[in-house]
Amino acid sequence: MTDLSLFELHLNETRDIIKAFQLEMDRGLALKKSSLKMIPTYVTMPTGAEKGRFIALDLGGTNFRILELSLKGGGRIGTSSNTMKFVLPQALLTGDAKSFFDFIAGCLKKFLQKYKLESGKDFNLGFTFSFPVKQTGVNSGRLVCWTKGFNVRGVVGNDVVSLFNEALQRKNVDNVIISALANDTVGTLVAKGYENSDCDIGVILGTGTNACYPEEKLDGMIINTEWGNFNKLKTSLYDRELDKNSDRPGQQILEKMVSGMYLGSLAGLVIKKDLKINIEFKTEYMSVIEADRSAGLSKVASVLRKTGIAKSTIVERRRIKKICEAVSRRGARISASCIAAIIKKMDKRLSRRHVVAIDGSVYEKHPTFAKNMKSCLREIFGSRSSLIRMVLAKDGSGKGAAIIAAVASRK
Ligand code: BGC
Repeated sequence: MTDLSLFELHLNETRDIIKAFQLEMDRGLALKKSSLKMIPTYVTMPTGAEKGRFIALDLGGTNFRILELSLKGGGRIGTSSNTMKFVLPQALLTGDAKSFFDFIAGCLKKFLQKYKLESGKDFNLGFTFSFPVKQTGVNSGRLVCWTKGFNVRGVVGNDVVSLFNEALQRKNVDNVIISALANDTVGTLVAKGYENSDCDIGVILGTGTNACYPEEKLDGMIINTEWGNFNKLKTSLYDRELDKNSDRPGQQILEKMVSGMYLGSLAGLVIKKDLKINIEFKTEYMSVIEADRSAGLSKVASVLRKTGIAKSTIVERRRIKKICEAVSRRGARISASCIAAIIKKMDKRLSRRHVVAIDGSVYEKHPTFAKNMKSCLREIFGSRSSLIRMVLAKDGSGKGAAIIAAVASRK
């Protein structure tokens, strides 16, 4: 039986993470070798005064969204019902760049046609592209590497806005100007920051994970840390096994311990070892299992039935719940420690309020992830942790990209 204390992260270890994370941030900013890319985004925080109608295209996983929204100034964002969701066909994720961007441009064309926006007016578009991009300007940047299972050929090293623009030309879309390219964390931070000037960290805890913050030394320019790749963490044999069998061994180590793409598989490896049950274990199962408070753990049983395990004993079900709790709790504590590291970098003595804008399915849907993060921050900062408020910033990434487009087009 696995000793689940393997997944514990004690207060002294959170302090080690904070220290190591800060060192890596400094190295990354100084362009020294670091697991944190610390990418300058050419974006600063909005004032809240930005106005106008914009289009946002939000692509960071197999589901992507296109929406129109209006910024009303005074920190207000108007809601628009003009929105469409699309699913990227699996084959495109391992195909070539042309087919990939043609598909996206085709979806944008459908959107413009559906809402009668295809002529008469030019639109500025904010493009949220949630992968590690080395920005070369506010609306240009080259893909450094793919993450989250994407593997489209011919994109790494190239400017994603140019690739998108070429596809728009092929589809005869001529009234859309891509005026901003943004990571989802940056969109999330900017969207919350538009309404609330205390907001200074944007975090995604979903399929992938990442965070950004405004860097004082760079006149407040927002830095995309790409924390998913942070690798100064104590790993267990299960983490090493998952990494070894992943499509990119050695990369995205923190992401493999924290995000929705991997948490389920990690718990699955422990379940396989302890109970000799070999199932494809999804992260969403963990939420159902950990929320099950019934005496007989009936929800755990029904999740198991879904995966083809018709019968299970209460002892097995209890064990599975314990495994899920241990794995997700560690993920929450790692995330909280890295947030603490960023806060301490901006405000050494925690002397002012910080709002952390967070989006993503793990943060939103998991029953105890947010709570475990909060209690970890309380351990780290004591009563001063009340100055830190984590808020769910739902769908902020698209909205934020539109705000960035507004700022950029005004310039
Ligand atoms: C990507 C980041 C992104 C995060 C959340 C990671 O895999 O590298 O750029 O912000 O996922 O979507």
